[in-house]
Amino acid sequence: MTVLVFLDPARPDGRIADAAQPQLMVTDTGITRGDGIFETMLAVNGAPRKLQAHLARLATSADALELKIPSSDVWERAITTALAAADDDGELVVKLVATRGEPEAGATAWVQVSAVPVGLRGQRLSVLLLDRGYDSTVAQRAPWLLMGAKTLSYAVNMAAVRYARSHGADDVIFTSSDGKVLEGPTSTVLIARVIDGVKHLITPQLESGILPGTSQGALFAAAREAGWDLGYGPLVPEDLFASDGVWLISSVRLLAEVESIDGKPVTVSPELTAELSGLVASVS
Ligand SMILES: Cc1ncc(COP(=O)(O)O)c(C=O)c1O
Repeated sequence: MTVLVFLDPARPDGRIADAAQPQLMVTDTGITRGDGIFETMLAVNGAPRKLQAHLARLATSADALELKIPSSDVWERAITTALAAADDDGELVVKLVATRGEPEAGATAWVQVSAVPVGLRGQRLSVLLLDRGYDSTVAQRAPWLLMGAKTLSYAVNMAAVRYARSHGADDVIFTSSDGKVLEGPTSTVLIARVIDGVKHLITPQLESGILPGTSQGALFAAAREAGWDLGYGPLVPEDLFASDGVWLISSVRLLAEVESIDGKPVTVSPELTAELSGLVASVS
């Protein structure tokens, strides 16, 4: 089941299209150059989770690419149309895509609703640390690299995951050329430390050229309410091994606990995972 709704100035609520039929021109620059942006969120019982955070990040990505996209209320209406057409009370993946479109024609934008991939959750991960090749200050020096934007150019991220899989691991944590922990190809890194009974939740600093995770942001807000102490890197690989738990977090897979890094075990904590998963579930 896939529902497609194109954002169309002639249809304020969006235009439903047949996902089994071709819909894009082969000359669309989203295809020919990966020149576009996207968001992926989870909908539960027909309601998208963290919708405003995703729309805000979509707008930030559009600004970074100088891409003119429809306003948030137009996206919201198209999402509502797509979820109504999907008519499913369970969990669904809602993807927003905007490409620079046809040369001279303007952005192409659509909402895609589909099922959550089977077997995505609940597994402890073995990950590889892979060098992303940029240093941790590159985002400030080279804004044209679009480090904090969620662009369609994810071929590198997918290649990193394939590399990990072909070397017996499940996923990846990127590091910078100056040795800082960055993020996963599709997720944010979290570590926990319990010091003198105080629980600390730490994520790499945003300024290191990573995507600001909406799941991490929402979890931090919930964790603060629950009495956790929060921190933002910089983190180095030794911090991962010295922690009381390492997780990758993202909107659809949610919280995934890491059990080994480069083949070496890291501390796993069913208690902390259960507590953090509960906080993730409480976020809407
Ligand atoms: C590179 C990258 N970092 C982090 C994330 C996590 O973001 P979110 O929690 O908003 O899904 C994603 C999500 O796909 C991502 O692609």
